[in-house]
Amino acid sequence: MAYNFITAQEAAQMIPNGATVGFSGFTAPGAPKFITEALAAIAEEEHAQGRPFKINILSGASTSDHADGALARANAINLRAPYQNKPDLRKRINSHDCHYCDRHLSDMAQETRYGFYGNIDFAIIEAADITPDGEIILGCGLGNTPTFAAMASKILIELNDRLPKTLLGMHDVYMPLDPPYRREIAIYKPSDRVGSPVLKIDPNKVVGIVKTSSLDGVSPFTEPDAVSKLIGNNVVDFLVHEYRRGALPKEFLPLQSGVGNVANAVLYNLGESTVLPKFQMYTEVIQDAVFELIRKGKCTFASTCSMTFSDKVEEELFANIDYFHDKIVMRPAEISNNPEVIRRLGVIAMNTALEADIFGGINSTHVLGTKMMNGIGGSGDFTRSAYVSIFSCPSVTKGGLISNIVPMVAHSDHSEHSVDVVITDQGIADLRHLDPVDRAKAIIENCAHPDYRPLLREYLKMGLGQTPHTLKAAFAFHTAFSETGDMRNVDFSKYL
Ligand code: COA
Repeated sequence: MAYNFITAQEAAQMIPNGATVGFSGFTAPGAPKFITEALAAIAEEEHAQGRPFKINILSGASTSDHADGALARANAINLRAPYQNKPDLRKRINSHDCHYCDRHLSDMAQETRYGFYGNIDFAIIEAADITPDGEIILGCGLGNTPTFAAMASKILIELNDRLPKTLLGMHDVYMPLDPPYRREIAIYKPSDRVGSPVLKIDPNKVVGIVKTSSLDGVSPFTEPDAVSKLIGNNVVDFLVHEYRRGALPKEFLPLQSGVGNVANAVLYNLGESTVLPKFQMYTEVIQDAVFELIRKGKCTFASTCSMTFSDKVEEELFANIDYFHDKIVMRPAEISNNPEVIRRLGVIAMNTALEADIFGGINSTHVLGTKMMNGIGGSGDFTRSAYVSIFSCPSVTKGGLISNIVPMVAHSDHSEHSVDVVITDQGIADLRHLDPVDRAKAIIENCAHPDYRPLLREYLKMGLGQTPHTLKAAFAFHTAFSETGDMRNVDFSKYL
């Protein structure tokens, strides 16, 4: 089959107002970058002419500024799912310019196949290579590409010459059957493979190929600050303690690590531990820290959905791909984040919270309860099914004006039923086997900042019942912040 090579502008012109478009990739890697920018330019022209232009965008996770950023600035997004992390899109979501459906990442592909998002008009897929009969070597993030490719009426390809064809073999492309025909996913260790190294598509659906040239543009991580280092040390101390007392098997267990600077700091610290053995990862993203750990031989294998490496590290990977080839596998999000597999492997889940409450409830998504930050991402997929689920965050933020340990989270993403351990720069609260009052004492005394401990103790004393909340005062910290700009000004006597 001879493909039609076109420009990004010509590709973008094929996508009409109101279309539903599935993007390849997971985080910036693997996401389209050029057709999306051209589409944003079209949207701006249409808006300037007084015509409406918005599309619905489904993805694996976040994308890059070339996609979510550009399209948000052009106000070209009607509906977005399941995850984003771009400041310009965040503004559109919080001002209701864009509908945002924040979903567990493992659910997105099957929900799309079940028809919950309607028809998929286009899939835009970044590729390292495509054969005439429709076999694609994907890029550095897999996401929900197999489902979007299978469902889309038309497919556009961004053929990126910065992606080496030697990526062949680093993907495990597998799409489960849907109920009632689904079978078990036969992954018994992180390195097991169940699918194909290439994505197979119907070549007749490819309406155009755009030649591109670009790395993924992920920013390098900054050196962890003092607070992140303390959190990282505490996470490692917890794991060492568990390992020494035999609560983790001697072979250790696969790790999942969330996104962001704290998560990166935790992994750097893990690499330094002389007690913990070499380990494997079953996770959704691997960042620069994991590249280093694989290079040093501390991490012996990583199953992921995306290699979210900074450009410098991505270039190092491509230059040394022979070494990494059999140590990393990229899978679709519904497999990398699959609860069945996570539970079977006994994954140790490590995610980051915006705030935790004294009983172990976690808010990962909504700043002060109302403003969307990023989304739940894969944190729920891993937390609920983990061998042990850890949430970490700094004890305070904004120079101490905000306590990240509060009486009740202002938005609930993970309930106390799924959260095993809370860790801050102050210390570790192991909540397993504790009742609500003992959980609260552990979190207040070990995790809260000393400035906030007396206030949290006072709150706990006020309550009645098995989980002693005082509902009228449950958001007193948040109210004090909105009224005075400092949570320390909370006055519980107002609520008595
Ligand atoms: N109240 C208000 N603002 C808060 C806050 C709180 N309790 N906690 C943090 N913030 C602010 C910070 O001050 C910072 O603001 P700034 O951008 O103005 O500096 C911002 O929120 C981000 O905080 P930071 O500590 O830098 O976050 P991070 O990079 O460690 O990310 C999450 C933390 C929770 C936002 C991020 O991990 C996330 O999106 N998680 C959900 C998805 C997920 O877990 N995916 C991984 C699964 S594998």
